[in-house]
Formats: sequence, C-alpha cells, structure tokens
Amino acid sequence: MAIERTLSIIKPDAVAKNVIGQIYSRFEGAGLKVIAARMMQLSQADAEAFYAVHKERPFFKDLVSFMISGPVMVQVLEGEGAILKNRDLMGATDPKKADKGTIRADFADSIDANAVHGSDAAETAAVEIAFFFPAMNIHSR
Ligand code: TYD
Repeated sequence: MAIERTLSIIKPDAVAKNVIGQIYSRFEGAGLKVIAARMMQLSQADAEAFYAVHKERPFFKDLVSFMISGPVMVQVLEGEGAILKNRDLMGATDPKKADKGTIRADFADSIDANAVHGSDAAETAAVEIAFFFPAMNIHSR
C-alpha cells in the first residue's frame, strides 16, 4: 500500500478532556507518524472555511460554534494507507455507532462533539493539509 498523508484534528472536546497523548499513542501504535503539528484556536472564519463543504447542512452553525469553543490540536499523519487507517482508528461519525476501541467510541460524547477529524480521501487530505501547514512545516521522516 502507498505511503499517504492525512490531516487529523483533535477537536475541542478531546483537548479539554486531556487525551491528546492517548490519541497520539493510537496513531503511533498503528504505524502513523506525526510529521507536522500545531495547537491553535480556530477563528469563526477559519472553521467556516475548513468546513465549507458542509455549509448548507443543518448542523453547520453548531459545528462551527463547537470547533471554535476551545483550542484544537492539528496534525499531519504519514504512513501506509494513512487516510483509511486514520478513519478506522477514529470510528463512525456518531460515537454511539462507532466500533468498540475506536477513538470516538472511547473519547467522544455525541455526533457533534466527536473528538477527532480525519480527511476522507486523497484529494481532501491535500487541500486540508495545505489549509493548515506550509510545506516547510511538514517534516516527512
Ligand atoms: P462528516 O464529514 O459527515 O463526518 P466525519 O467527521 O466522520 O468525516 O461530518 C463532519 C462533522 O460534522 C462531523 O464530524 C460532526 C458534524 N456532524 C454533525 O454535527 N451532525 C451530523 O448529523 C453530521 C453528519 C455531522
């Protein structure tokens, strides 16, 4: 399988729960490397732009409010099949439907406060990585 990169966000709920390290351990345990990272407070404009694909959805306003409710931890993960591997680690969007042992099953409370984001395809991964990181801040190893 090809080496891929994917964008991951540890959302405000999981940052507030102090589980950044536990989530990073899962990435590392699955063979994914953190090759770029930054903790930041998203502005409303940042969150609206990042989730622009969802702007017509009924949950958009609440999603933006949630994403700016506290700091997030944003990282680029690299590894074999990184995009799908990260989605598997995350579990289903709704933590009630997420498989046992996934990040969302273990750390998320609801579909809107669901602990993590992960790119869903190669094209979106490229766009999302560029949204947060200039190439000089990505350290492939
Ligand atoms: P989506 O891209 O469908 O899910 P995923 O994060 O698993 O790729 O939705 C993006 C985010 O929007 C999701 O993580 C949480 C929020 N959301 C809701 O708040 N309510 C919903 O009904 C859905 C589908 C998503």
